[in-house]
Amino acid sequence: MIPAVELRDVRKVYQGSPPVTALAGISLDVPSGTIYGLLGPNGAGKTTAIGICTTKVRATGGTTRVAGLDVATDAVAVRRHVGVASQAITLDRSCSVSDNVYYHCRYFGMPAAESRHRTEELLDRFLIADRRDAMPSQLSGGLAQRVQLARAIAHRPSVLFLDEPTAGLDPQSRLALWDLVGTLRGEGLTVVLTTHYMEEADKLCQRLAIVDHGRILAEGTPEQLKQESGSTAVIDVALAGDRVAARAALDGVVGVRDVQDTERGLRILVAPEGGGVPRVVSRVAEHHLTDLKVVEPSLETAFIRLTGRDLRE
Ligand SMILES: Nc1ncnc2c1ncn2[C@@H]1O[C@H](COP(=O)(O)OP(=O)(O)OP(=O)(O)O)[C@@H](O)[C@H]1O
Ligand SMILES: [Mg+2]
Repeated sequence: MIPAVELRDVRKVYQGSPPVTALAGISLDVPSGTIYGLLGPNGAGKTTAIGICTTKVRATGGTTRVAGLDVATDAVAVRRHVGVASQAITLDRSCSVSDNVYYHCRYFGMPAAESRHRTEELLDRFLIADRRDAMPSQLSGGLAQRVQLARAIAHRPSVLFLDEPTAGLDPQSRLALWDLVGTLRGEGLTVVLTTHYMEEADKLCQRLAIVDHGRILAEGTPEQLKQESGSTAVIDVALAGDRVAARAALDGVVGVRDVQDTERGLRILVAPEGGGVPRVVSRVAEHHLTDLKVVEPSLETAFIRLTGRDLRE
């Protein structure tokens, strides 16, 4: 089966002075019918990658195929295959909720009766039928995002791109949205998404790519990514005392994989098995420890280990 999305050595340099290399050559396959996550710190190149797949951004090099179609030579056909929703609400503010969906269908060439039918079906399905006549400005963030999702799939695309669809939503709206995304996948839609919520990506995605500075640092199933990073706990300590001395105290301590400076102290990457965590804590305790946070091995710690950064930093 051909991948739903296929990137080969895709590069993007934004011209300007100085030019910005947003993608330095990324290759990945999104298997059809999966939810695929792109994770990366700010400026990693995620939105650029989605822009290229959805024909909004023209790549500087490499090949991108969606549903087997080359985005560079078959842009019009690709647009029928892709649905897009991003963090920003891009609903037409001068139209009601139902008209936003209806005119999207019409734009994609659906006859009027079918467009009306499709609009009704989606409003029902996404539990927004009672707000059909509302204007976008009257909707909460979660509801507006649901309308955007309905609109994004109204023309029956084969791949749905969601760029931080849940940013800024309250936890309940976030869960509701991920729930919908899971259902859509169950119906055969392929979904490519970006998010800053690691735990959610872990649960939702079949595969993930961790991206930084326009490159893929790791790619695989959430399980593979967690294992590859060799189960690592992250200990963040705030210190009032001498950081250099605290660092020295950690030299040669069994289980310590890496020590990084942070604003308030140190970040220590440690193998949690074999008493690594208590050993580290007792060593740094002598250096005027003012605060301590232990993050158990997870996708988040894999991410920190690979990029040296928190996703939300
Ligand atoms: N239109 C543009 N012109 C110039 N530079 C751009 C443009 N769009 C993005 N960039 C730059 O390209 C790099 C990648 O940006 P991109 O928006 O793809 O990252 P991102 O991973 O989506 O980040 P975020 O998590 O903040 O949304 C950044 O350095 C950004 O400043
Ligand atoms: Mg972005």
